[in-house]
Amino acid sequence: MSIFSTVFNRRKTYSAKWDMLEQVYSIQDASEVLPMWVADMDFAIPSVIIDALQKRMEHPVFGYTMVPEQTKSSLTKWVADKHQLTIENEWILFRQGVIPGIAEAIESFTEVGDKVLIHTPVYPPFVSVPTNLGREVVTSLLIEKDNSYEMDWDSFENCLKDDVKAFILCNPHNPGGKVWSKDDLTKMATLCQQYNVLVLSDEIHSDLIFEPNKHTPMLNAAEDSTNIITFFAPTKTFNLAGIQAAAMVVPDEQKRTVLEKLAMSRGYMDLNVFSLTALQTAYEQGNPWLEELLEVLTVNMDYVVDHLSKLEGIKVSKPEGTYLVWIDYRGTGLSEKEIMNRLLTIGKLALEPGSKYGKAGEGFLRMNLACPLSIVEDGVERFVRSLQ
Ligand SMILES: Cc1ncc(COP(=O)(O)O)c(C=O)c1O
Repeated sequence: MSIFSTVFNRRKTYSAKWDMLEQVYSIQDASEVLPMWVADMDFAIPSVIIDALQKRMEHPVFGYTMVPEQTKSSLTKWVADKHQLTIENEWILFRQGVIPGIAEAIESFTEVGDKVLIHTPVYPPFVSVPTNLGREVVTSLLIEKDNSYEMDWDSFENCLKDDVKAFILCNPHNPGGKVWSKDDLTKMATLCQQYNVLVLSDEIHSDLIFEPNKHTPMLNAAEDSTNIITFFAPTKTFNLAGIQAAAMVVPDEQKRTVLEKLAMSRGYMDLNVFSLTALQTAYEQGNPWLEELLEVLTVNMDYVVDHLSKLEGIKVSKPEGTYLVWIDYRGTGLSEKEIMNRLLTIGKLALEPGSKYGKAGEGFLRMNLACPLSIVEDGVERFVRSLQ
């Protein structure tokens, strides 16, 4: 049996996905509810990472840790092999997460009251982080087409013209599963350069791409890298979100100095001994696991698209990237409240309501398919039952 078929009971493991259902969905008893919401996987991580962590645990001293050059090289080599992106080790700053990194960049390079541009629908912290930092969030709506999204170039440029200081890009796009084309990215970068806007390119989902699509790093699309900060992490790719590790790639030396100063003023640390071990092992030895994962996800995606698109009022297509499907239920005539209520009470299925991703997400649900096929089948059955 493949490790990707094994069903683990994750309840009572302090799992946000499984143990926070009552809180998140305001329900009394979630013991029968199947969670397919937050973006982590129900799969065991690569055994090479477990072995490496165990080996480190065998040494009983856990003092202050240094990040060796090898850890940086593991990422440099990974992005070169996976995405044909050439970066220097010295451009890398490790952080606890992508979102803390984005927050640090916004704090460092914009002022309170400044405008920060995002697309919508989009991953909710792209709104909450700048807002909580006192910045004004400006949104450019993506144009919905054939169950995917396209750029609205007029809206994008009009926003940039309006004194925007930074643009947070989700590349590839969560929740739409869109893998941006090189042309789109080049045009975004050129416009941002023209209006002197810093690009924060969140590429956390970049290893989760389905053939024939191909991830283009923003740094490979842009002519000038000075105004680009890219965020990578092994946490989505290898299911390490609970271990927390991410990298900011900052080609511009001046920007790195500013970021390091902020980190020192706050006492931020690099990776800890566990996240360092996990990240390095993932990038050095995790690829065979990832290749198998992508095959498993393809089967899961096909199954869901096949079954759900037969339902009246439901439109769904296979994402180009990410393990998330974005389900359009507007044809059912149900409101978000009605469909969420049906899913939770009839099917006992927890999906993400699209409005979490902004007003543009209303009429959609996000379903996480990073789980064994038997669970996906169960989820689909619950979904179908909820709508009958
Ligand atoms: C686009 C995107 N960025 C960032 C994150 C979270 O990153 P981190 O846990 O490293 O802060 C997620 C998690 O779902 C995500 O989808």
